[in-house]
Amino acid sequence: MSLAIELSGKRALITGGGNGIGAEIGRALVRAGAHVWINDISQERASEIATELCAIGPGSASPVKADVTDPAKVLRMREETGPVDILVNNVGIPIGGFQLQKFVDSQPSDWDLSIWLNFGSVLHVTHAYVGAMTEAGFGRVITIVSDAGRKGERYQVIYGAAKAASMGFSRGLAAEVGKFGVTVNCVALGAMKTGPLIDVIANDPAFETKMARPYAVPRIGRTTDPAPLVAFLASDYAEWITGQTYPVDGGYVNAL
Ligand SMILES: NC(=O)c1ccc[n+]([C@@H]2O[C@H](COP(=O)([O-])OP(=O)(O)OC[C@H]3O[C@@H](n4cnc5c(N)ncnc54)[C@H](O)[C@@H]3O)[C@@H](O)[C@H]2O)c1
Repeated sequence: MSLAIELSGKRALITGGGNGIGAEIGRALVRAGAHVWINDISQERASEIATELCAIGPGSASPVKADVTDPAKVLRMREETGPVDILVNNVGIPIGGFQLQKFVDSQPSDWDLSIWLNFGSVLHVTHAYVGAMTEAGFGRVITIVSDAGRKGERYQVIYGAAKAASMGFSRGLAAEVGKFGVTVNCVALGAMKTGPLIDVIANDPAFETKMARPYAVPRIGRTTDPAPLVAFLASDYAEWITGQTYPVDGGYVNAL
């Protein structure tokens, strides 16, 4: 039995796919043969990654610009892409990174973006795409979450709460749509070497060593770490796996 992941003929959408973890998931899905819509709030990022993915093949890619925190723009994106078989709710960190802040020092107006990016977008994008999946009798919804929502992390209280909400949503939706061939899972990450952290580490290499200390496998994550699991969860092999959260975190949080 060959264990190669085969996604030829499948259409996928990755939110916030123009950088970091989402772009790497795009590479994995295109290598498996899928056509991948790369969504991003930045046309430039989406187009750059889609062009790169087309060159990788054997699958293909197209950019789709949309701010997924805006429900009307999500609906316009759905019109542009049509239905997909695989939805990866990857968006979660605003351009430039999010600010660490004590909850007590934060204001309600500080919470909105994190809640909309990490939970609101998951609801709206999934709502726009899952109906066609249930009608087609096949679908995969995979949401990228964080150990901040499993363990709880100081200074990331709202981010963690929004990620925890996405996990709860995924468990409930999984129970609704499993009978239609649609699975719904989450992949929970530890600290990843991407985005603004790359510059921080370049200026202070000792910081990377310090960050890696709590990890059983003593390094921080690479964007390539979660992509194979996402491709597997998207494949036919994973048809009886649903309602779960799978950590890719070097053993940082080794229990639910
Ligand atoms: N980076 C980490 O250390 C880390 C750790 C745990 C979990 N995660 C999760 O992994 C996922 C991906 O994170 P990343 O670090 O690769 O992010 P990133 O910042 O590298 O990339 C996110 C992409 O999303 C786009 N984007 C931002 N706001 C958008 C919006 N409103 N609509 C559409 N696109 C938008 C950005 O332009 C960017 O290209 C997120 O859900 C994040 O919470 C990341």
